[in-house]
Amino acid sequence: EAGVFTYDPGFTSTGSCESDITFIDGDEGILLYRGYPIDQLAAKSSFLEVCYLLLYGDLPNKEEMTKFDYTITHHTMVHEQLASFYRGFRRDAHPMAVMCGVVGALSAFYHDSLDINDPRQREIACVRLVSKIPTIAAMAYRYSTGLPFVYPKNKLGYTENFLHMCFSVPAEEYVVNPVLAKALDTIFILHADHEQNASTSTVRLAGSSGANPFACIAAGIACLWGPAHGGANEAALKMLETIGTVDRIPEFIRRAKDKNDPFRLMGFGHRVYKNYDPRAKAMQIQCHAVLDELGQHDDPLLHVAVELERIALQDEYFVEKKLYPNIDFYSGITLRALGFPVSMFTALFALARTVGWIGQWKEMLEDPHQKIGRPRQLYTGAQQRDYVPLDAR
Ligand code: SDX
Repeated sequence: EAGVFTYDPGFTSTGSCESDITFIDGDEGILLYRGYPIDQLAAKSSFLEVCYLLLYGDLPNKEEMTKFDYTITHHTMVHEQLASFYRGFRRDAHPMAVMCGVVGALSAFYHDSLDINDPRQREIACVRLVSKIPTIAAMAYRYSTGLPFVYPKNKLGYTENFLHMCFSVPAEEYVVNPVLAKALDTIFILHADHEQNASTSTVRLAGSSGANPFACIAAGIACLWGPAHGGANEAALKMLETIGTVDRIPEFIRRAKDKNDPFRLMGFGHRVYKNYDPRAKAMQIQCHAVLDELGQHDDPLLHVAVELERIALQDEYFVEKKLYPNIDFYSGITLRALGFPVSMFTALFALARTVGWIGQWKEMLEDPHQKIGRPRQLYTGAQQRDYVPLDAR
């Protein structure tokens, strides 16, 4: 009916689309990608295989996997001119600021993937984004440290190659630690998609106007950056550092419960999960695997995190509101141990989520019900009034 709509700030009860990609049961703490439970994919699959699953709907057979691996690997280089684009930024720019700019700028480089009505061009856009996003994130990291950019190496796997582009130096051979590479690959699987979260909804909304895929993903990156969303991994680690020692936890729990204090437990709570986020459990496993491998089990921040979780999960406030650790609670400790600076944490989330964003963008364009996204509002401003000339005000 024209003029009638539901007021739903934060879209807590609005279904914005149909999707075949990801299923969440927030009460039970279940997450499925194309029907497969996240814990099985985290334990048995690889990120590249999960990319195929998310983009094409099924796990690949051997031949499909080989072909996909070849295609992705052979699109990892970026246009050489893109390096000049980085050099326009300050070295101390936040990597997410650089990522927003560089990914948006891809539309100025790849003119054969901008026609959203051509299925072949849409496909090339998906491949380009999944292939190049590790190169782009690694370049953002290298630029921030003053180190030279590193070209991708085709003989390495997706995640090994990313570690190589981040951490190798020209003077010596860089050997990727397979345990750490596996852990990071699994972390990428955990972040790959999460139905209609804020950044994915942003990508869909941007895409609904017919905007090009690179512009849409840049919009997703911008949205993910916020501390209530993907920026929470950076905020959670900073929070653990601020708390510092186990004896200070009760003070911060008290502050998190105080409505007059803006402090919230970062990495806690979720719009959909009213139970343990299944990704947080898998993330905890990876956290221990990485710290074991590096002999860092005495990391004081791990003690603070474990104790904070234990105390919060027994506290009436968190129990009543069903606030559990989310994916971002343990990811910071793990990524820090892997050697990434705090400022790269959300960029790593963006790297992994790119496949989910572009997969959903493609799904939306192929949906016959798709329309431009255009919510309404409740107007609360002035009634109609007449203009008064400046000298009469
Ligand atoms: C991600 O949506 C997705 O799928 C996102 C994501 C993905 O993969 O894409 O899972 C990734 O964004 C994870 C979430 C990361 N953010 C944080 O960890 C930041 C801290 N958490 C919160 O700010 C909050 O829980 C949100 C943003 C995650 C969810 O917000 P909602 O659904 O709007 O819930 P809310 O803020 O209204 O909270 C409900 C109640 C409130 O109290 P009341 O007003 O009802 O009394 O719980 C309280 C909140 O004040 N609350 C918290 C809290 N989170 C919620 N109190 C203390 N500490 C917290 N962390």
